[in-house]
Amino acid sequence: MDLTVIILAAGKGTRMRSRLPKVLHRLAGKPLLAHVIETAQALEPRQIAVVYGHGGEVVPQALSHYPVQWVEQAEQLGTGHAVATAMDALAPAGQVLILYGDVPLTRPETLAGLLGQLEQGPLALLTAQLDDPTGYGRIVRNEQGRILRIVEQKDASDSEREIREINTGILAAQGGHLAGWLKRLDNNNAQGEFYLTDVIAMAVADGQPVASTRAAHLWEILGVNDKRQLAELERRQQLNLAMELMSQGATLADPARLDIRGRVELGQDVFIDVNVVLEGRVELADGVSIGPNCLLRDVSLGEGVRIEANSVLEQARIGAECSIGPFARIRPGTELASGARVGNFVEIKNAQIGRGSKINHLSYVGDSQVGERVNIGAGTITCNYDGANKHRTIIGDDAFIGSDSQLVAPVEIGAGATIGAGSTITSDAPPGELTLSRSRQRTISGWQRPRKHNR
Ligand code: UD1
Ligand code: CA
Repeated sequence: MDLTVIILAAGKGTRMRSRLPKVLHRLAGKPLLAHVIETAQALEPRQIAVVYGHGGEVVPQALSHYPVQWVEQAEQLGTGHAVATAMDALAPAGQVLILYGDVPLTRPETLAGLLGQLEQGPLALLTAQLDDPTGYGRIVRNEQGRILRIVEQKDASDSEREIREINTGILAAQGGHLAGWLKRLDNNNAQGEFYLTDVIAMAVADGQPVASTRAAHLWEILGVNDKRQLAELERRQQLNLAMELMSQGATLADPARLDIRGRVELGQDVFIDVNVVLEGRVELADGVSIGPNCLLRDVSLGEGVRIEANSVLEQARIGAECSIGPFARIRPGTELASGARVGNFVEIKNAQIGRGSKINHLSYVGDSQVGERVNIGAGTITCNYDGANKHRTIIGDDAFIGSDSQLVAPVEIGAGATIGAGSTITSDAPPGELTLSRSRQRTISGWQRPRKHNR
């Protein structure tokens, strides 16, 4: 199949009331237009063209990593003009599919079905039946049910406005025919625009049958014009993504209270509690459990990992059977080996924590390498920053760091070393020994508390 996909994305999107061009607003963490480009890619076309205009180079710059041809439509003279501009740039020979940068959720299966309709003639439309068709172009058929033309809302007669079958805008055509029809478009209509929809009547005049098909779901053809519609489609897509996770075997406490803004890879028997946000690339191995109110961005969790409530993890790799939280903050560059435990009010950044090590309460561990079976007591802080540079802390296997210690980096704690509680460690502590730096405790006997003066 020789397929060219043309995506129209030149419009302004005034009703979004935003400086950002409409198609760059995000749905499920990704720009609207990126959804459409990825849907097009799923059809394995020979080429994809995106017609842009309003907002200038902002749109192509934001999505420059996609292998598409950017075609500028300097003035938005109508959908027909937009398609003609792309056709002039590409001169496609095979089939052409027209999509819209602000209609993000059309399924590739639906579009493949539409392209299949081209076996019956050079033009096929995706239509829908709406209870309230206001604003849409209406599909005008004859008594035999054959499509005759599309009439836009603003050009329609009262009886035509009664028609509830509407044009979604998405259509497929044979490139050669489409190019010929586009050359004959004019803008003698209520909006003074070159309507893509006028090609339907031209096909009929040429004696060509116009085929049509419908999408399985209404949300597949809905566009985004304002923030309310964006929010509605966001909820719909989140439900789709939750359904997908459940069909892969995940248990969700509430499919309506999970948000996915990226890609999730899933093992078996994963449990996700309410109000969890998964962003970027998230890998959840077998038996992972995520408590309520957690944010996970670009993380991979090994088998049996438990994330307790209210934890935030970003760019981290967590080994099997680790337990994290509640109220833990795992920052970029964190790697936990299997069986490590990170408890409440602990922050870890750019640190490797060895097997079975524990940091259970109120600690900051940054720019550190921590060995196996290490116990880091409550309130321990690695002082990694001297005001100008970051330095590393190295802690050997089986070390025990007493509570409320400060390890002033660069510093190394030897294997099996013990650090007395409340120490400020500024130079290396030898392996196997007790090191402490707090001042010796003393008692002043007979000392009396001050009393209030009696006047
Ligand atoms: C269009 C259809 C209408 C259909 C409706 C579905 C035409 C004439 N009408 O109407 O039958 O029911 O979509 O939503 O096609 N665009 C450009 N360049 C332009 C004009 C538009 O890129 O010069 C893009 C816009 O960014 C927008 C899309 O094309 O995403 C639709 O354009 P718009 O003018 O909004 O068409 P509608 O009036 O909604
Ligand atoms: Ca529109």
